[in-house]
Amino acid sequence: MRFRTFVAGLCALFPVVLFPGSAASAKTPVTARHGMVVAQEPIAADVGLAVLKHGGNAVDAAVAVGFALAVTHPAAGNIGGGGFLLVRLANGKSHFVDFREAAPGGASRNMYIGPDGKPTKDSLFGWRASGVPGSVKGFSEAYKKWGTKKWAELLAPAVNLARNGFTVDQALASEMLGSASTLRNDPESNRIFLRDGKPYQAGETFRQPELASTLERIATKGADDFYDGETARKLAAAMAAHGGLITEADLKNYRAIERKPLEGAYHGYEIITAPPPSAGGLGILQMLGILNGMGFGSDGPNSVKAVHYTAEAMRRFYADRSKYLGDPAYYDVPVRQLLSPQYLAERRASINPAQATPAAEIQPGLILAAAGVHQRESSETTHFNVVDAQGNAVAVTYTINNSFGSGITVPGLGFLLNDEMDDFAAKPGSPNLFGLIGADADAIQPGKRPLSSMNPTIVTRDGKLFMAVGAPGGSRITTGVLQVILDVVDFHMNAQDAVDLPRFHDQWKPDILYLQKGFNPDVEAALVKMGYKTKPINDVGRVEAIVVRNGLLEGGTESRHNGKVAGY
Ligand code: GLY
Repeated sequence: MRFRTFVAGLCALFPVVLFPGSAASAKTPVTARHGMVVAQEPIAADVGLAVLKHGGNAVDAAVAVGFALAVTHPAAGNIGGGGFLLVRLANGKSHFVDFREAAPGGASRNMYIGPDGKPTKDSLFGWRASGVPGSVKGFSEAYKKWGTKKWAELLAPAVNLARNGFTVDQALASEMLGSASTLRNDPESNRIFLRDGKPYQAGETFRQPELASTLERIATKGADDFYDGETARKLAAAMAAHGGLITEADLKNYRAIERKPLEGAYHGYEIITAPPPSAGGLGILQMLGILNGMGFGSDGPNSVKAVHYTAEAMRRFYADRSKYLGDPAYYDVPVRQLLSPQYLAERRASINPAQATPAAEIQPGLILAAAGVHQRESSETTHFNVVDAQGNAVAVTYTINNSFGSGITVPGLGFLLNDEMDDFAAKPGSPNLFGLIGADADAIQPGKRPLSSMNPTIVTRDGKLFMAVGAPGGSRITTGVLQVILDVVDFHMNAQDAVDLPRFHDQWKPDILYLQKGFNPDVEAALVKMGYKTKPINDVGRVEAIVVRNGLLEGGTESRHNGKVAGY
């Protein structure tokens, strides 16, 4: 059913304007004049701040934070995974580095289908779950293009934290314990992260000597050590010994790819975001495009009207995501069509202002042929933003997929491997862990990069930096980042209030509107009356943001979590 007059008469349809009960956090945003780092782990944020204070630029600081997180936040920070780095330089030019993992040369379409025809768990756990890691190459390429300090200096804090240790906080102690069932299965992970059955307590010192040696070699010999040196040889040998797929040739052939970021406009702001193989960046632009000019937000953030229209935009994007998104080197992603004003107008017009559109009535919108398959995704990843005194901004999201990745630590090398192969569509037609539905576009092929929700994003206004934002959270990365952009741009919230506001998530299938803790129950009741099936959820991304306002940097990291805004 199509409604062409969706804006007129909206007030009559929402007789009670319901505002959220807890719109704003009690926390004042941290502000700074010169530079700022916002990260999910405080020690790493301080490492980045120190680089900025000593004259490093935002890329230098991002490299230092990326390696530090590999030590202090092993659940997601990594050198055994991959991700995306978006940089907007002070000269106004933007660049995107894709260092997503690639399927090994020995990978094949049905490698995770068991004899019973069902997907196995091998894409999630164990030696066969890993794609070729990209993080070291990604940071190295960004450094070579835009860094200014000595490479070894940027890795020194990570080496030191690994060698001499750091104090375990409650968050890390809980993360290690929370993943004990995975870590226990691998002798090296069990030894390092669970201390052979005597898990670390908050306040104890955690040292990682093998990781320190690996980082030291990368600091001295560069990324070549990881891809064509001692680390590469040891990693490939361990893979061969345990039935894994990654070979020395896979590592040698791995490339970080500089891509053109996706760009779009929304309510007077320019949005710069991640291109495929991220699905998230296209999602942000598509959902903003559907919401553009709808007057969807006139009743305020998290009002019935705002949630309804935003959730409907989410449903339509996730339907398209299920079919048209994949690695552009292997699948011709119809980016232009999916973002064309005409197509967005059609999607907008299909929203019923008074009723939820059931998931079963929403289909991928373009007329293209592709087989339907399912795709899995994890909730664990990490994001950080850096802005320096010159106005360079960097947003990085990187991951080993699940918390602590595949659960495998390479013996003698001290780092965890990713289970990013699970972000491919493992089996045509099967439901997945997160209910996300993928397509042939994301089927496994050697060398291909799995589809990702990660979408580091930078927003500008009148050509000037306005915001850097991103999040971990699997399929909820995209919807989390979208809402924080809306909260800041449309609802004029500060960075801290925006990240703290309870969020919602809808991914088309399952046909459920997830509401984060703290959502106004009256709003929920009104949404249920409109046809939404609601369920509570802990997190919708853990969004980190820096906003530039009145010449000051304003940072936001969720009060619900352990991140830090470090500025000077
Ligand atoms: N592994 C999560 C993502 O890339 O979306």
